[in-house]
Parts: sequence; structure tokens; C-alpha cells
Amino acid sequence: MDAIRIYGGNCLDGQTTIQGSKNASLPILAATLLIDGTCEIENCPDISDVYHMLRLLESLGCKVERERTVVRIDTQSFSECDMPSDSVCVMRSSVMLVGALLARTGKICMEYPGGCVIGARPIDLHLKSLRQMGASVQEDAKGFCAEAARLRGAVLRLPFVSVGATENLILAAVLADGETVIEPAAREPEIQSLCEFLRSAGAQIEGSGTERLVIHGVEKLMPVRYRIPADRIVAGTYLCACMSAGGRVFLRDAPVSHMESVLSYAERMGASVSREADGIVVTGRVHESGCDLVRTGCYPEFPTDMQSLFMAVMTLSGKAGRIEETVFENRFRIVPELRKMGADITVQGNVAHVGAVDGLHGAIVQAQELRGGAALVVAALAADGTSIVTNRHYIDRGYEDIVLNLRALGADLELA
Ligand code: EPZ
Repeated sequence: MDAIRIYGGNCLDGQTTIQGSKNASLPILAATLLIDGTCEIENCPDISDVYHMLRLLESLGCKVERERTVVRIDTQSFSECDMPSDSVCVMRSSVMLVGALLARTGKICMEYPGGCVIGARPIDLHLKSLRQMGASVQEDAKGFCAEAARLRGAVLRLPFVSVGATENLILAAVLADGETVIEPAAREPEIQSLCEFLRSAGAQIEGSGTERLVIHGVEKLMPVRYRIPADRIVAGTYLCACMSAGGRVFLRDAPVSHMESVLSYAERMGASVSREADGIVVTGRVHESGCDLVRTGCYPEFPTDMQSLFMAVMTLSGKAGRIEETVFENRFRIVPELRKMGADITVQGNVAHVGAVDGLHGAIVQAQELRGGAALVVAALAADGTSIVTNRHYIDRGYEDIVLNLRALGADLELA
């Protein structure tokens, strides 16, 4: 079956090493298309979203090989051919190829990208800004074609912060003719990693990590070797697993400096957190010390990708609280599933009201998307009895070996 069976009630103890970041890897893999030659990407997570991105690069004629956590991409045999729609439709980050392919070939036709069901997730900001950079973009019901002999730098003022649009426009601008300004730019650590990768290849980018990015187009980028940073959301997921099940866990390599908002909310919810040079030590099960409001926002505020995980923990805290989602319009898909486990949650607009309950009981629940699926596993670790989380493939999009890692920490669960 495409599921995980969890026998709730075990505390966690030990240490786990945090994998490379999915959301840093995907734009960097797309960025290799801007570089003629072989790039080596270290600490690249072995997850299905990365698998699909590598397949897309192979479908474009790139040579791709993986040796444990190192991925080598040789783009010298790049050829323009249709990308397999099954990979394009599976994930949203395929849209990140648009900027890179426009810069490299001058033309890209693509079906609208897929992704999680957490909202409409349009790409209007991407396409509008590419038009401002000189691309002609034709759209129909299924997808779009964009063409540009050579993209030109422009001042791109976005109506609000978009991580994907910022990444796509950086890729479009690094080889464009002239200077590009992106404002407001997203400030996420994954954007900073992308800028670091591109600067090491010779790009000229100023303002990484701020709301104003200035990119001076260059003629050529050189092949590089780059190490992907640890995944702050995966680290936050294991943090929540420990808060849910109780115990003491060392999250080796967790990117402490990029997790401050998550760690301070965790402490407000009763966890004790020790910030180490090489990771985080977290202890404690949350009980009677819930947090009355968790509100998501753009970095460095509390990340939307941690919202479902904290909802799971909040249901176990024995205290009432509220979760306010400000980024996506439909990111409470986990609520009906948590209710099946005994949670008392009502949704009003973009606020989920979490009632105090004595605990959760095991149930058969369905993952609807990546982070909600992980959150159901987190809830099941502390539930009374056995749970089965179906649609495990959603979880596999972003987590390497979550069952193996949790078993190694003492949880009782298995693939089903
Ligand atoms: C990225 O998605 C991440 N995905 C998401 O992580 C993350 O939740 C999100 O950023 C916010 O941090 C990857 O990096 C692969 P946005 P993205 O553009 O780029 C609207 C995970 O679990 N919008 O910042 O799609 C959009 O609908 C995933 O790892 C437009 O309206 O997020 C959303 O409401 C889930 N038009 C808001 O902006 C556009 O052209 C923010 O989206 C673009 C976005």
C-alpha cells in the first residue's frame, strides 16, 4: 500500500541528521541549465520532487548522475525537446525552468505547473515580469509559450512577495542584457542559497536576503560544485515529532540561524530548545502550555510550510489555540483528517480554531499534500492506538526515509 502504519505512544530519543533542503535544491538544479559544463551538487536530497526535476533535465538532453548525495549535471549535450508532461504536472517547481530555458534557448512552451492542492497557485507574477523583460508570452487554457531573443534587464515591482517568482526572475536576469531590480524580493534562506550558488558561478547579484535584489547580467556562468544547506522544514518536522511524542532528540545539521521563528513558537508551546553550533537539541512533550496564536508569514516570519505541523502539535497540547494562514488560501486540508483522530478544530476564513482535547486516538487518515501528510504522522505518534496515513507518496515528495528515521528515534511505525 501507499501508506504508513503508526502505533502511537512511544517517546523519541537519539539523533537524526537533517537532509538537504528540497526548496533550495530545486531552483539550483534548474539554474544548472544556465551553465555550460558539469555542476556538482552535494547534499542533494533523494526525494521524488528532486527525482522529477532531474528527469526534466534529462529530457532536455542533460547528462545526470547521482552518487549517493552528490548529483552531477552536464548540460553540454542540452537539446531543445519537449519536457515529459508527467513530471511537469507533478510539481510546481517545474515553472522554475522557464526563466532558465528562456535565457538559454530563447523559447519555452510548458503546461501550467502542478503542485499541492493548497491553493490556486497561479504564475501570473512570473509571466507578467518576463513580459517586462522583453519576452512574448502566449497563453491558452492548458499552458503557455514564452519567447525572447535575449531577455533585457528591467525594474520588476511585484504586488507581493512570491518565492517562486523571485527565483524564476533571478534565473531569467543573471544572463540578461543590463540590470534587473526585483522588489519586493522574497528573503527565504532558499533564495539566499540560490544567489550564493549563482554568485559562485560568476553571477553579479546584490541584496540577497533583503527585499531588494539587484542583478547585473553577465555574459557567461562557469560550472561549480555547491553544497545544499540542510532543510529547515524537515528539521522543524522532526522538532514537532519530538514535541508531539515527547523525549529528547538532537537534530544534527539543522540550520539554526534560519529557524528562529519556529524555535521561538516551539518554546512558547512548552518545548525546551538548545541551539548548538551543529544543530538543535529539543526535549519535551507539549502539554498545558499551548500557544494561543500561530500566524504564518513571509520569511523571517513563521513559515507556512510549518503550519500543519504546528496544528498537529497544538491539538495535542491540551490547550485551545488559533492558527492563522496568511500565504495560501487553502492550506487547512489536514483539518478533516485530524478530526477523524478526535481533534476539535473549526475553520473560519483563514483562521483555524483548535479546541482543547484530552488527546487523540488512532484512525485511518489521508494525506492530501506534502506537509499535511507529515503532520498526520506527527499527530499519530502521540495518538492512542494505531493510525494509518494513506497517500504516502505526497510525503515522499519532500522527506527522505521518514519511517526509517523515526524508527531509529524509537517510534513504532512501518510502511504499509
Ligand atoms: C514556494 O512555493 C515553496 N515551494 C512552498 O513550499 C512554500 O510554501 C512557498 O514558497 C511559500 O514559502 C518551493 O519552493 C518548491 P509563492 P511558491 O510564490 O513559490 C501566490 C513545500 O511544502 N502567487 O511564494 O509556489 C500564491 O498562490 C512547498 O515545500 C500568485 O498569486 O510560493 C501564494 O498564495 C509548498 N501568483 C502566494 O503567492 C504568482 O505568480 C505565495 O506563493 C505566484 C504566487
